[in-house]
Amino acid sequence: MHGLIEPHGGKLVNRLASGAALEQLKKEAAELPRINLTYKQSCDLELIANGGFSPLTGFMGQADFESVCRKMTLADGTVWSIPILLSVDKASAPKVGSRVALYAPSGVLQGVMTVKEVFAHDKKLEIPSVFRTEDEAHPGVAQVSKEGDTCVAGPVDAAVICVDPNGPEAFLSQRLTPAQVREEFQKRGWKKVVAFQTRNPIHRAHEYVCKCAQEICDGLLIHPLVGETKKGDIAADVRMEAIGALVAKYFNPATTMVSVLPAAMRYAGPREAIHHAIMRRNYGCSHFIVGRDHAGVGNYYGTYDAQKIFDEIDLANLGIQPLMFEHTGYSKSYGGMVSGKSFPKIEGDIINLSGTAVRDLLFKGERPPVEFSRPEVADVLIKAAKAEKLFVQ
Ligand code: ADX
Repeated sequence: MHGLIEPHGGKLVNRLASGAALEQLKKEAAELPRINLTYKQSCDLELIANGGFSPLTGFMGQADFESVCRKMTLADGTVWSIPILLSVDKASAPKVGSRVALYAPSGVLQGVMTVKEVFAHDKKLEIPSVFRTEDEAHPGVAQVSKEGDTCVAGPVDAAVICVDPNGPEAFLSQRLTPAQVREEFQKRGWKKVVAFQTRNPIHRAHEYVCKCAQEICDGLLIHPLVGETKKGDIAADVRMEAIGALVAKYFNPATTMVSVLPAAMRYAGPREAIHHAIMRRNYGCSHFIVGRDHAGVGNYYGTYDAQKIFDEIDLANLGIQPLMFEHTGYSKSYGGMVSGKSFPKIEGDIINLSGTAVRDLLFKGERPPVEFSRPEVADVLIKAAKAEKLFVQ
Protein backbone atom coordinates (compact mmCIF):
# COMPACT_ATOMS: atom_id res chain seq x y z
CA MET A 1 0.00 0.00 0.00
CA HIS A 2 1.51 3.34 -1.05
CA GLY A 3 -0.80 5.70 0.79
CA LEU A 4 -4.03 5.63 2.74
CA ILE A 5 -6.91 3.52 1.48
CA GLU A 6 -9.08 5.24 -1.16
CA PRO A 7 -12.52 6.38 -0.01
CA HIS A 8 -15.45 4.09 -0.86
CA GLY A 9 -16.41 4.74 -4.47
CA GLY A 10 -13.07 6.48 -5.12
CA LYS A 11 -13.70 10.06 -4.03
CA LEU A 12 -14.25 11.61 -0.61
CA VAL A 13 -17.52 13.55 -0.69
CA ASN A 14 -17.70 17.00 0.91
CA ARG A 15 -21.14 18.59 0.92
CA LEU A 16 -20.40 21.30 3.45
CA ALA A 17 -21.02 24.77 2.08
CA SER A 18 -18.65 27.51 3.16
CA GLY A 19 -17.96 31.22 2.60
CA ALA A 20 -20.28 33.01 0.19
CA ALA A 21 -22.02 29.72 -0.78
CA LEU A 22 -22.95 29.19 2.86
CA GLU A 23 -24.36 32.71 3.21
CA GLN A 24 -26.39 32.17 0.04
CA LEU A 25 -27.63 28.80 1.31
CA LYS A 26 -28.85 30.33 4.59
CA LYS A 27 -30.62 33.14 2.77
CA GLU A 28 -32.29 30.72 0.38
CA ALA A 29 -33.28 28.35 3.22
CA ALA A 30 -35.22 31.08 4.99
CA GLU A 31 -37.65 31.17 2.04
CA LEU A 32 -37.95 27.41 1.50
CA PRO A 33 -40.46 24.86 2.81
CA ARG A 34 -38.99 23.05 5.79
CA ILE A 35 -38.54 19.46 6.86
CA ASN A 36 -37.76 18.81 10.52
CA LEU A 37 -35.30 15.93 10.66
CA THR A 38 -35.40 13.18 13.26
CA TYR A 39 -32.22 12.61 15.26
CA LYS A 40 -31.37 9.59 13.06
CA GLN A 41 -31.85 11.60 9.85
CA SER A 42 -29.80 14.42 11.30
CA CYS A 43 -26.94 12.00 12.10
CA ASP A 44 -27.18 10.60 8.56
CA LEU A 45 -27.00 14.08 7.10
CA GLU A 46 -23.86 14.89 9.09
CA LEU A 47 -22.19 11.81 7.56
CA ILE A 48 -23.39 12.66 4.06
CA ALA A 49 -21.96 16.15 4.52
CA ASN A 50 -18.61 15.16 5.98
CA GLY A 51 -17.96 12.32 3.53
CA GLY A 52 -18.41 9.47 6.00
CA PHE A 53 -21.09 8.09 3.67
CA SER A 54 -19.05 8.53 0.45
CA PRO A 55 -20.01 7.97 -2.34
CA LEU A 56 -23.49 9.16 -1.24
CA THR A 57 -24.11 12.86 -1.85
CA GLY A 58 -27.63 12.88 -0.44
CA PHE A 59 -30.49 10.71 0.77
CA MET A 60 -31.07 7.61 -1.35
CA GLY A 61 -33.41 7.28 -4.29
CA GLN A 62 -35.61 4.26 -4.97
CA ALA A 63 -33.21 2.30 -7.19
CA ASP A 64 -30.42 2.52 -4.60
CA PHE A 65 -32.84 1.75 -1.75
CA GLU A 66 -34.20 -1.40 -3.40
CA SER A 67 -30.78 -2.57 -4.48
CA VAL A 68 -29.39 -2.06 -0.96
CA CYS A 69 -32.25 -4.07 0.54
CA ARG A 70 -32.10 -6.88 -2.01
CA LYS A 71 -28.42 -7.10 -2.93
CA MET A 72 -26.44 -5.09 -0.37
CA THR A 73 -25.11 -2.83 -3.12
CA LEU A 74 -26.06 0.55 -4.51
CA ALA A 75 -27.71 0.41 -7.95
CA ASP A 76 -24.25 0.77 -9.56
CA GLY A 77 -22.90 -2.30 -7.74
CA THR A 78 -20.96 -0.48 -4.96
CA VAL A 79 -21.26 -2.43 -1.70
CA TRP A 80 -23.76 -0.76 0.66
CA SER A 81 -25.82 -2.48 3.35
CA ILE A 82 -28.06 0.06 5.13
CA PRO A 83 -30.69 2.31 3.48
CA ILE A 84 -30.08 6.02 4.05
CA LEU A 85 -33.55 7.47 3.69
CA LEU A 86 -35.28 10.73 4.38
CA SER A 87 -38.83 9.62 5.06
CA VAL A 88 -41.66 12.02 5.83
CA ASP A 89 -45.45 11.90 5.95
CA LYS A 90 -47.02 11.90 2.51
CA ALA A 91 -48.89 15.13 3.23
CA SER A 92 -45.67 17.03 3.87
CA ALA A 93 -43.66 15.58 0.95
CA PRO A 94 -42.22 18.29 -1.30
CA LYS A 95 -42.45 18.27 -5.10
CA VAL A 96 -39.79 16.78 -7.35
CA GLY A 97 -37.54 19.56 -8.62
CA SER A 98 -38.10 21.78 -5.57
CA ARG A 99 -35.59 22.75 -2.88
CA VAL A 100 -36.31 22.11 0.80
CA ALA A 101 -34.58 23.26 3.97
CA LEU A 102 -33.66 20.52 6.46
CA TYR A 103 -33.64 21.40 10.15
CA ALA A 104 -31.93 19.42 12.91
CA PRO A 105 -33.98 18.45 16.02
CA SER A 106 -32.34 21.39 17.83
CA GLY A 107 -33.95 23.74 15.31
CA VAL A 108 -30.66 24.60 13.59
CA LEU A 109 -30.62 24.74 9.79
CA GLN A 110 -28.64 21.68 8.77
CA GLY A 111 -28.87 21.74 4.98
CA VAL A 112 -30.81 22.23 1.79
CA MET A 113 -31.89 19.42 -0.51
CA THR A 114 -32.70 19.41 -4.19
CA VAL A 115 -35.59 16.97 -4.47
CA LYS A 116 -34.93 14.50 -7.27
CA GLU A 117 -37.38 11.78 -6.30
CA VAL A 118 -40.34 11.15 -4.04
CA PHE A 119 -41.34 7.50 -3.53
CA ALA A 120 -43.26 5.23 -1.19
CA HIS A 121 -41.30 3.99 1.83
CA ASP A 122 -41.39 0.22 1.34
CA LYS A 123 -41.02 -0.86 4.96
CA LYS A 124 -42.12 -4.39 4.07
CA LEU A 125 -38.94 -4.61 1.99
CA GLU A 126 -36.65 -2.64 4.30
CA ILE A 127 -37.41 -4.14 7.70
CA PRO A 128 -36.89 -7.89 7.12
CA SER A 129 -33.94 -7.42 4.78
CA VAL A 130 -32.05 -5.01 7.01
CA PHE A 131 -32.94 -6.37 10.46
CA ARG A 132 -33.63 -10.05 9.62
CA THR A 133 -36.74 -9.79 11.80
CA GLU A 134 -40.05 -7.92 11.83
CA ASP A 135 -40.37 -8.03 15.59
CA GLU A 136 -41.45 -4.61 16.83
CA ALA A 137 -39.52 -5.21 20.04
CA HIS A 138 -36.30 -4.82 18.01
CA PRO A 139 -35.30 -1.14 18.42
CA GLY A 140 -34.31 -0.70 14.77
CA VAL A 141 -37.53 -2.29 13.52
CA ALA A 142 -39.60 -0.14 15.90
CA GLN A 143 -37.85 2.98 14.65
CA VAL A 144 -38.38 2.28 10.93
CA SER A 145 -42.01 1.29 11.60
CA LYS A 146 -42.65 4.73 13.09
CA GLU A 147 -40.97 6.60 10.23
CA GLY A 148 -42.84 8.40 7.45
CA ASP A 149 -44.49 6.54 4.56
CA THR A 150 -42.85 8.64 1.85
CA CYS A 151 -39.15 9.04 1.00
CA VAL A 152 -37.63 12.22 -0.34
CA ALA A 153 -34.34 11.79 -2.19
CA GLY A 154 -31.69 14.02 -3.63
CA PRO A 155 -28.34 15.69 -3.05
CA VAL A 156 -27.89 17.87 0.01
CA ASP A 157 -25.74 20.91 0.69
CA ALA A 158 -25.00 21.17 4.40
CA ALA A 159 -24.87 24.38 6.41
CA VAL A 160 -23.27 23.04 9.59
CA ILE A 161 -21.10 20.09 10.45
CA CYS A 162 -22.05 19.43 14.07
CA VAL A 163 -25.68 19.37 15.15
CA ASP A 164 -25.41 17.15 18.21
CA PRO A 165 -28.50 17.64 20.38
CA ASN A 166 -26.12 17.92 23.35
CA GLY A 167 -25.08 21.28 21.91
CA PRO A 168 -22.93 22.67 19.11
CA GLU A 169 -19.78 21.99 21.11
CA ALA A 170 -20.48 18.28 21.74
CA PHE A 171 -17.27 16.30 21.30
CA LEU A 172 -16.16 19.05 18.96
CA SER A 173 -12.42 18.61 19.49
CA GLN A 174 -12.76 14.91 18.68
CA ARG A 175 -15.44 15.26 16.03
CA LEU A 176 -13.01 15.08 13.15
CA THR A 177 -14.29 14.72 9.61
CA PRO A 178 -12.95 11.89 7.43
CA ALA A 179 -10.66 14.41 5.70
CA GLN A 180 -9.30 15.57 9.08
CA VAL A 181 -8.75 12.01 10.31
CA ARG A 182 -6.94 11.16 7.07
CA GLU A 183 -4.77 14.24 7.48
CA GLU A 184 -3.87 13.15 11.01
CA PHE A 185 -3.00 9.62 9.83
CA GLN A 186 -0.74 11.10 7.18
CA LYS A 187 0.96 13.34 9.74
CA ARG A 188 1.61 10.30 11.88
CA GLY A 189 2.89 8.31 8.88
CA TRP A 190 0.20 5.63 9.30
CA LYS A 191 -0.98 3.62 6.29
CA LYS A 192 -2.28 0.42 7.75
CA VAL A 193 -4.83 1.64 10.27
CA VAL A 194 -7.37 -0.44 12.17
CA ALA A 195 -10.66 1.07 13.37
CA PHE A 196 -12.53 0.00 16.48
CA GLN A 197 -16.27 0.69 16.58
CA THR A 198 -17.99 0.77 19.96
CA ARG A 199 -21.22 1.91 21.54
CA ASN A 200 -20.70 0.43 25.01
CA PRO A 201 -18.47 1.35 27.95
CA ILE A 202 -15.01 0.13 27.08
CA HIS A 203 -14.07 -3.10 28.85
CA ARG A 204 -11.17 -5.54 28.94
CA ALA A 205 -12.33 -7.60 25.94
CA HIS A 206 -12.59 -4.41 23.86
CA GLU A 207 -9.12 -3.41 25.02
CA TYR A 208 -7.76 -6.85 24.16
CA VAL A 209 -9.09 -6.97 20.59
CA CYS A 210 -7.80 -3.44 20.04
CA LYS A 211 -4.34 -4.44 21.23
CA CYS A 212 -4.25 -7.62 19.15
CA ALA A 213 -5.16 -5.61 16.05
CA GLN A 214 -2.69 -2.90 16.96
CA GLU A 215 0.15 -5.43 16.84
CA ILE A 216 -0.29 -5.88 13.09
CA CYS A 217 -1.12 -2.29 12.08
CA ASP A 218 0.65 1.09 12.09
CA GLY A 219 -2.07 2.62 14.21
CA LEU A 220 -5.40 2.14 15.97
CA LEU A 221 -8.37 4.49 15.65
CA ILE A 222 -10.73 4.10 18.60
CA HIS A 223 -13.89 5.40 16.98
CA PRO A 224 -16.89 5.30 19.31
CA LEU A 225 -20.30 5.98 17.86
CA VAL A 226 -21.76 9.10 19.52
CA GLY A 227 -24.88 9.72 17.42
CA GLU A 228 -28.32 8.40 18.30
CA THR A 229 -28.46 5.33 20.53
CA LYS A 230 -31.45 3.90 22.31
CA LYS A 231 -32.81 4.89 25.69
CA GLY A 232 -31.04 2.95 28.42
CA ASP A 233 -27.72 2.67 26.52
CA ILE A 234 -24.73 4.29 28.23
CA ALA A 235 -24.48 8.01 27.43
CA ALA A 236 -21.83 8.96 24.87
CA ASP A 237 -20.10 11.56 27.06
CA VAL A 238 -19.62 8.97 29.82
CA ARG A 239 -18.25 6.43 27.32
CA MET A 240 -15.86 9.06 25.97
CA GLU A 241 -14.58 9.90 29.44
CA ALA A 242 -14.04 6.19 30.10
CA ILE A 243 -12.09 5.80 26.86
CA GLY A 244 -9.98 8.81 27.79
CA ALA A 245 -9.16 7.28 31.18
CA LEU A 246 -8.30 3.91 29.62
CA VAL A 247 -6.16 5.25 26.80
CA ALA A 248 -4.23 7.60 29.08
CA LYS A 249 -3.03 4.72 31.22
CA TYR A 250 -3.01 1.60 29.06
CA PHE A 251 -2.31 2.60 25.45
CA ASN A 252 0.65 4.00 23.55
CA PRO A 253 -0.24 7.50 22.33
CA ALA A 254 2.17 7.07 19.42
CA THR A 255 0.02 4.32 17.92
CA THR A 256 -3.43 5.19 19.26
CA MET A 257 -5.90 7.87 18.24
CA VAL A 258 -9.42 8.60 19.53
CA SER A 259 -12.06 10.38 17.49
CA VAL A 260 -15.87 10.12 17.35
CA LEU A 261 -18.30 8.81 14.76
CA PRO A 262 -21.48 10.92 14.75
CA ALA A 263 -23.61 8.04 13.37
CA ALA A 264 -26.98 6.71 14.55
CA MET A 265 -27.12 3.08 15.69
CA ARG A 266 -29.56 0.80 13.87
CA TYR A 267 -28.86 -2.33 15.95
CA ALA A 268 -28.93 -4.21 12.63
CA GLY A 269 -26.11 -6.60 13.62
CA PRO A 270 -24.62 -8.17 10.45
CA ARG A 271 -25.79 -5.51 7.99
CA GLU A 272 -24.60 -2.78 10.32
CA ALA A 273 -21.15 -4.37 10.61
CA ILE A 274 -20.68 -3.78 6.87
CA HIS A 275 -22.05 -0.26 7.22
CA HIS A 276 -19.65 0.47 10.09
CA ALA A 277 -16.76 -0.83 7.98
CA ILE A 278 -17.66 1.34 4.98
CA MET A 279 -17.72 4.49 7.11
CA ARG A 280 -14.31 3.65 8.59
CA ARG A 281 -12.87 3.14 5.12
CA ASN A 282 -13.97 6.69 4.37
CA TYR A 283 -12.19 7.84 7.53
CA GLY A 284 -9.00 6.33 6.06
CA CYS A 285 -8.87 2.98 7.85
CA SER A 286 -7.65 -0.12 6.04
CA HIS A 287 -8.83 -2.63 8.68
CA PHE A 288 -11.93 -2.94 10.83
CA ILE A 289 -12.53 -4.96 13.99
CA VAL A 290 -15.58 -7.23 14.03
CA GLY A 291 -15.89 -9.21 17.24
CA ARG A 292 -18.75 -11.09 18.82
CA ASP A 293 -22.32 -10.03 18.00
CA HIS A 294 -21.18 -6.77 16.41
CA ALA A 295 -23.94 -4.12 16.50
CA GLY A 296 -26.36 -6.71 17.83
CA VAL A 297 -29.16 -6.31 20.32
CA GLY A 298 -31.01 -8.88 22.44
CA ASN A 299 -30.89 -12.34 20.89
CA TYR A 300 -31.73 -11.37 17.33
CA TYR A 301 -28.39 -12.39 15.81
CA GLY A 302 -26.02 -15.30 16.22
CA THR A 303 -22.68 -14.57 17.91
CA TYR A 304 -20.78 -14.61 14.60
CA ASP A 305 -23.50 -13.60 12.10
CA ALA A 306 -21.87 -10.17 11.74
CA GLN A 307 -18.67 -11.93 10.63
CA LYS A 308 -20.31 -14.46 8.31
CA ILE A 309 -22.08 -11.74 6.33
CA PHE A 310 -18.73 -10.59 4.89
CA ASP A 311 -18.75 -13.86 2.85
CA GLU A 312 -21.84 -12.59 1.05
CA ILE A 313 -20.31 -9.39 -0.34
CA ASP A 314 -17.57 -8.43 -2.77
CA LEU A 315 -14.67 -7.87 -0.36
CA ALA A 316 -12.53 -6.22 -3.04
CA ASN A 317 -15.25 -3.63 -3.56
CA LEU A 318 -15.67 -3.15 0.19
CA GLY A 319 -11.95 -2.39 0.25
CA ILE A 320 -11.51 -2.26 4.02
CA GLN A 321 -10.42 -5.58 5.53
CA PRO A 322 -12.51 -6.96 8.39
CA LEU A 323 -10.45 -8.36 11.27
CA MET A 324 -12.59 -10.98 12.96
CA PHE A 325 -12.26 -11.83 16.64
CA GLU A 326 -13.80 -14.68 18.56
CA HIS A 327 -15.52 -14.08 21.86
CA THR A 328 -12.71 -13.07 24.22
CA GLY A 329 -12.53 -12.72 27.97
CA TYR A 330 -10.30 -13.13 31.01
CA SER A 331 -9.41 -16.78 31.68
CA LYS A 332 -8.78 -17.63 35.32
CA SER A 333 -6.70 -20.72 34.50
CA TYR A 334 -4.57 -18.89 31.94
CA GLY A 335 -4.34 -15.66 33.93
CA GLY A 336 -5.02 -13.33 31.03
CA MET A 337 -7.25 -12.46 28.09
CA VAL A 338 -7.94 -15.29 25.66
CA SER A 339 -10.43 -16.52 23.12
CA GLY A 340 -11.40 -20.11 22.35
CA LYS A 341 -8.78 -19.90 19.60
CA SER A 342 -5.83 -19.13 21.86
CA PHE A 343 -6.71 -21.19 24.94
CA PRO A 344 -8.88 -24.29 25.36
CA LYS A 345 -12.40 -23.67 26.56
CA ILE A 346 -13.01 -24.71 30.17
CA GLU A 347 -16.47 -24.51 31.72
CA GLY A 348 -16.76 -21.45 34.01
CA ASP A 349 -13.21 -20.30 33.33
CA ILE A 350 -13.93 -16.97 31.62
CA ILE A 351 -14.96 -14.00 33.77
CA ASN A 352 -18.06 -12.73 32.04
CA LEU A 353 -20.57 -10.27 33.45
CA SER A 354 -23.95 -9.42 32.00
CA GLY A 355 -24.78 -5.77 31.38
CA THR A 356 -27.36 -5.94 34.18
CA ALA A 357 -24.85 -7.35 36.66
CA VAL A 358 -22.38 -4.57 35.82
CA ARG A 359 -25.05 -1.90 36.23
CA ASP A 360 -26.10 -3.29 39.61
CA LEU A 361 -22.51 -3.03 40.83
CA LEU A 362 -22.05 0.50 39.49
CA PHE A 363 -25.20 1.77 41.19
CA LYS A 364 -23.99 0.28 44.46
CA GLY A 365 -20.76 2.23 43.92
CA GLU A 366 -18.80 -1.00 43.46
CA ARG A 367 -16.24 -1.67 40.75
CA PRO A 368 -16.74 -4.72 38.52
CA PRO A 369 -13.79 -7.16 38.78
CA VAL A 370 -10.54 -5.78 37.38
CA GLU A 371 -10.47 -8.73 34.98
CA PHE A 372 -13.64 -7.34 33.41
CA SER A 373 -13.20 -3.58 33.62
CA ARG A 374 -10.15 -1.41 34.34
CA PRO A 375 -10.59 0.44 37.68
CA GLU A 376 -10.10 3.81 35.95
CA VAL A 377 -13.02 2.99 33.62
CA ALA A 378 -15.16 1.65 36.48
CA ASP A 379 -14.64 4.87 38.44
CA VAL A 380 -15.88 7.00 35.54
CA LEU A 381 -18.99 4.82 35.30
CA ILE A 382 -19.62 4.88 39.07
CA LYS A 383 -19.31 8.68 39.10
CA ALA A 384 -21.87 8.92 36.26
CA ALA A 385 -24.21 6.45 38.00
CA LYS A 386 -24.08 8.53 41.21
CA ALA A 387 -24.84 11.70 39.26
CA GLU A 388 -27.68 9.89 37.44
CA LYS A 389 -25.97 10.58 34.13
CA LEU A 390 -25.07 7.04 33.15
CA PHE A 391 -27.82 6.43 30.61
CA VAL A 392 -29.20 7.95 27.43
CA GLN A 393 -32.58 9.38 28.50
S1 ADX B 1 -21.17 -2.59 19.05
O1 ADX B 1 -22.62 -2.38 18.91
O2 ADX B 1 -20.40 -1.39 18.78
O3 ADX B 1 -20.73 -3.76 18.27
P1 ADX B 1 -19.73 -2.99 21.55
O4 ADX B 1 -19.32 -1.60 21.85
O5 ADX B 1 -20.03 -3.84 22.74
O6 ADX B 1 -21.01 -2.99 20.61
O7 ADX B 1 -18.61 -3.76 20.74
C1 ADX B 1 -17.58 -3.14 20.05
C2 ADX B 1 -16.78 -4.17 19.26
O8 ADX B 1 -16.16 -5.10 20.17
C3 ADX B 1 -17.59 -5.03 18.29
O9 ADX B 1 -16.80 -5.36 17.17
C4 ADX B 1 -17.88 -6.27 19.10
O10 ADX B 1 -18.11 -7.37 18.27
C5 ADX B 1 -16.57 -6.43 19.87
N1 ADX B 1 -16.71 -7.15 21.15
C6 ADX B 1 -17.44 -6.77 22.24
N2 ADX B 1 -17.29 -7.64 23.25
C7 ADX B 1 -16.44 -8.61 22.80
C8 ADX B 1 -15.87 -9.81 23.37
N3 ADX B 1 -16.14 -10.19 24.62
N4 ADX B 1 -15.05 -10.55 22.59
C9 ADX B 1 -14.75 -10.18 21.32
N5 ADX B 1 -15.24 -9.07 20.74
C10 ADX B 1 -16.07 -8.29 21.45
